[in-house]
Parts: sequence; structure tokens; C-alpha cells
Amino acid sequence: MSPRVLILNGPNLNRLGTREPDVYGRTTFADLTALVLGWAADLGLDASVRQTNSESELIEWLHEAADGGADVVLNPAAFTHYSYAVRDACAVVTGAGRRLVEVHLSNPAAREEFRHTSVVSGVATGTIAGFGVDSYRLALAALAGGPQATERGAAAG
Ligand code: DQA
Repeated sequence: MSPRVLILNGPNLNRLGTREPDVYGRTTFADLTALVLGWAADLGLDASVRQTNSESELIEWLHEAADGGADVVLNPAAFTHYSYAVRDACAVVTGAGRRLVEVHLSNPAAREEFRHTSVVSGVATGTIAGFGVDSYRLALAALAGGPQATERGAAAG
């Protein structure tokens, strides 16, 4: 059976393509979904892509990953910077022994001051930011590399 991965996306990412294209590019969320599903299939992963503008829905999905044995690629969008509830739900995922890769299209560290803080990073397995839609491909490749790859990364950090 292929390893399961949930690719979860937070608020406003459904507006990709028209939202601040100078920052996020012209790729729509539908385009992103198709790309991600193609990359996941090539890597032998059983992937689902979801997006929500609701903090509670995102938290339910993280619990589902923890209970259902799925790894997670998470773009928490603006929740990254202030949602302790999303952070705690991410800790449930990694605490259950699943891997969670935080991704961002842009590089928040190179943007406004309020984006320099991620409350999620400290409980994620790792973070990939700044490569546009390729951030998702890199995250999937890290997960497909097997637990050893991310365990080595965690040990180094
Ligand atoms: C983002 C960066 C966040 O600061 C922002 O709130 C987003 C998108 C990114 O993918 O670059 O909505 O997570």
C-alpha cells in the first residue's frame, strides 16, 4: 500500500492565481492541486489535497492525519504566524509519530516582520519555503525519501 499524505492548505490559498500574483505567482489552486497530485503519484504516494479558510476544519484534518496514520504537508498560510491551536494540532500529528512538513510558496523570513515568526515550525518535522509551487514538490520528495531521511534531518537540527 502506498504511504498516505494529506496536503493541507490554510486561508486564502484558494485565491491563488489572482491573489498578490507578484508574491505568489499565477498558478491557481486548481493548477497547484493537479501538479501536487502528479508529483505524489510519481513518488508512489497516496495523496489528497485540501484547502480551508476555517481554523477548526484545519485542526480536524490534522487530527485525522494523526489518527489515520498519514504524513502531512501543511501550508498553514496566515495561521503560521499566530495560531497556537494549529500549532498544538501539528504537535498532535508529530507526537503520533507522523511527519509534518511546513511549506510556504514565498519566503516569509524575507517579507514583513510579522511573517518572520512561525508558531508551527517548532513542532514540524521540517520546513520548506520560498520555492513557489516547487516547495510542495520538495516536501513530497522529503517524505518519499522515507522516515530515515527526515529522522536524519531532525537529528541534525
Ligand atoms: C504563505 C505565507 C504566509 O505568510 C501568508 O499568510 C500566506 C501564504 C506562503 O505560502 O508563502 O497566506 O504561507
